[in-house]
Amino acid sequence: MKCGKLLFVLFVTTIIYAGISQTTVYAASEGATLYAQYCASCHGATPSGAQVNASAEKITNAIATNSDMKNNASLKTLTSAQIQAIASFLSTSSATGSSLFLSNCISCHNTIPATDPRLVGATATKITNAIASVSQMKGNTALQGLTSTQIQSISDYIVGTGQSSNWIIAGVGDFNGDGSVDIFWRDTINGYNYVWLMSGTGISSGLWLPTFTGNTWLVEGVGDFNQDGYADILLRNISTGENVIWLMKSGAIQSSITLPTLSDKNWVAAAIGDLNGDKYPDIVWRHLVYGYNGIWYFNGTTVSGVGSLPQLADASWVLCGAADMEKDGNTDLVWRNKTSGYNYVWNLSGTTVVNAYAMPQISDTSWTIAALGKPDTNGYVNVFWRNQNAGSTVILTMHGGTMVMDTVVLPTFGP
Ligand code: HEC
Ligand code: HEC
Repeated sequence: MKCGKLLFVLFVTTIIYAGISQTTVYAASEGATLYAQYCASCHGATPSGAQVNASAEKITNAIATNSDMKNNASLKTLTSAQIQAIASFLSTSSATGSSLFLSNCISCHNTIPATDPRLVGATATKITNAIASVSQMKGNTALQGLTSTQIQSISDYIVGTGQSSNWIIAGVGDFNGDGSVDIFWRDTINGYNYVWLMSGTGISSGLWLPTFTGNTWLVEGVGDFNQDGYADILLRNISTGENVIWLMKSGAIQSSITLPTLSDKNWVAAAIGDLNGDKYPDIVWRHLVYGYNGIWYFNGTTVSGVGSLPQLADASWVLCGAADMEKDGNTDLVWRNKTSGYNYVWNLSGTTVVNAYAMPQISDTSWTIAALGKPDTNGYVNVFWRNQNAGSTVILTMHGGTMVMDTVVLPTFGP
């Protein structure tokens, strides 16, 4: 399809919404999210003790009778389908594995498996071999008593918690003020936030940010709002519509700025970049249902004005980020179609799309554009591609629609 024609389709496509009714069935993975949101505050990020293998009935009884749980208003909002989902998560082998891991392994290994390089890719075979051959483990009677089923559960847990499926790229930005763009990872299940401090495109070390669990507050992106040389974090509460900026320095929150509330949950802060040339990053909001695109202009940490961009009604188009792809001094928007794998640039002048063109298509839709970095010394923008299924991250350097330099393949998986 020619670009012009595709562009035409982009602008005229609208979606007709039929009233779709469906029974909500939650998967165990959804149960893990619900557990993190509703239960982890009291029971810890990893279920243990009475939580492991708790049936839906046991949970319902606990909510009705346990004095702490009875008085907790949010637990009362859980539907029986959600409680069932939590129960099915608690019955998975990884929930059992987490308590076995906590009781048998953390005396010598890190509490968060993802941060212990010895545990990366810990299959049951690898663990069994380690128990048989690592001298410290060989001498440990508790380890010698583990059954093969238990070892399999521990492996499921280690692989499940530590591996790519939980860790998403929440944004990129300079977190330690050294001029290099760093990668901000968020563990969406356990709430850990970790930054790969980069030196160019190589990982130099890591930095922990404050942990927060639950999926009510989402990390929407990263930008240096107060222009102090350190990346700040934009958070959005998807239940209340509140928006907050954490002004960060070297991994610590300096202060928290409250922005106006945007109560329609379908708005996402899809891109952060300077759209009016005043050096301060602005926020581009995209409406997930109607495809409206709006701008909040910032003057530092306060909203100084609003603007709107053309509507792009087809919800398959995901707004991935804002960067100067053209080296013309104007910030452009980068789009990816999550069904077809087409990638597009809107070359902007103010809020006018002066030109729109395709970047190479990447039809495997397990690849997403996780973030756009700032231009390198040649003015070329680094595009961070992430394959969540495979745990792979690749940096492609782009100029306009062309990939101009070598690709950098980063290590599989999170920290
Ligand atoms: C406000 C704190 C709080 C929250 C939130 C909470 N619990 Fe509890 N829960 C407790 C306390 C305290 C106990 C009793 C001590 C214990 O067993 O840890 C308990 C006990 C339990 C028990 C054991 C009941 C029994 O009969 O032995 C289960 C199962 C349980 N909780 C599941 C959950 C699940 C699932 C969630 C999330 C949907 C949850 N709890 C949320 C505080 C909480
Ligand atoms: C008494 C301390 C101790 C305990 C308890 C322990 N480990 Fe280890 N483990 C070690 C040490 C030390 C090494 C590193 C050995 C080396 O690098 O030569 C290691 C290495 C490993 C390795 C990597 C082996 C390899 O081939 O690279 C795995 C996997 C592992 N441990 C899993 C576990 C699991 C799972 C548990 C709990 C069920 C556990 N360990 C409990 C001390 C311990």
